[in-house]
Amino acid sequence: MTRKRVLSGIKPTHDSFQLGNYLGAVKQWIELQQEHDAFYCVADLHALTVETDPALLHKRTLASAAQLLALGVDPERCTLFLQSHVAEHNQLGWVMECLAGFGEASRMTQFKDKSQKSGADRTVVGLFTYPMLQAADILLYQADYVPIGEDQRQHIELTRDLAGRFNSRYGRTFQLPEAYILKSGAKIYDLQDPTSKMSKSAGSMQGVIEIMDAPEVNAKKIKSAVTDTGREVRFDEKEKPGISNLLTIHSVLSGRSIAELESEFAGKGYGDFKAVVAEVVVEYFRPIRQRALEILEDESGLLALLHQGADKAALVAEKTLSEAYRNLGLVQR
Ligand code: TYM
Repeated sequence: MTRKRVLSGIKPTHDSFQLGNYLGAVKQWIELQQEHDAFYCVADLHALTVETDPALLHKRTLASAAQLLALGVDPERCTLFLQSHVAEHNQLGWVMECLAGFGEASRMTQFKDKSQKSGADRTVVGLFTYPMLQAADILLYQADYVPIGEDQRQHIELTRDLAGRFNSRYGRTFQLPEAYILKSGAKIYDLQDPTSKMSKSAGSMQGVIEIMDAPEVNAKKIKSAVTDTGREVRFDEKEKPGISNLLTIHSVLSGRSIAELESEFAGKGYGDFKAVVAEVVVEYFRPIRQRALEILEDESGLLALLHQGADKAALVAEKTLSEAYRNLGLVQR
């Protein structure tokens, strides 16, 4: 039986991934690579929608690949590559732009939020066409599943719509992908504002855990997380969003159920609970951070691995793109 395909991506916009990236997405990447034919990319082209210093983009792209490897993405089991190394992403991206309606692209909430924040004059066209490039990332690999956090769901729905539209106009070319979103951890919230998602682009980093940050810094952030009124450590997203977020983080990292944690902390205060969550987080990421730093020391080894990944990815991408071009009626070269 052929294994099901998986594809996902992550932007290298910061020096470190934040906790939500791992719990919402990358943790699932690592589990899925065991039984699936998985393709994972550092979405460096998507990072260009934010103006970044070239030296910094270069550094963050390699740092992202190193973090993925340190977190457990295994090049023996999956294909890890940089999006810009496989030119077909842009080529199919254009096709997707020609299929997508202006109205449907305008309804993407990520675009609406980000463009509202920065204002029309400072919003680049690439932010608008971003989901069409993302659709190309996925469809090139005929992915069955796309492991992501909740905030990416709408982009996968658009991808399915575009694939379906292409298939019905030009003949079956693309697999319709499904979003793979877990119930627990799909949306990790900011520690200082537990009603907004944890995000690298948050106004303040006080509520954002960066996995490459020093352990003491992260322990302090967790110990100063905003909690709720009352004293009970109980999961209740409406009444106790802060405590519920911390319970989710503990549970996903420790593998223990929320009910088990609730009974362990029955009668104990928020302070004790936060100290334990801080320890769970810090000890989980301590060796990972160390490993990522070691991987970064051998830049040529890391690049060799990414080049191999790009070669493997390109084989699949070239095949899909040439089929799509042929079905569109473009004359073959
Ligand atoms: P990016 O780089 O913003 O985030 C990477 C992954 O982390 C998830 N995530 C979260 N999950 C739970 N709680 C949070 N607070 C949280 N914050 C982020 C995101 O949902 C994502 O899965 N457009 C994508 C990158 C991309 C992509 C792709 C994804 C490019 N091409 C193809 C899937 C398939 C993005 O901006 O992710």
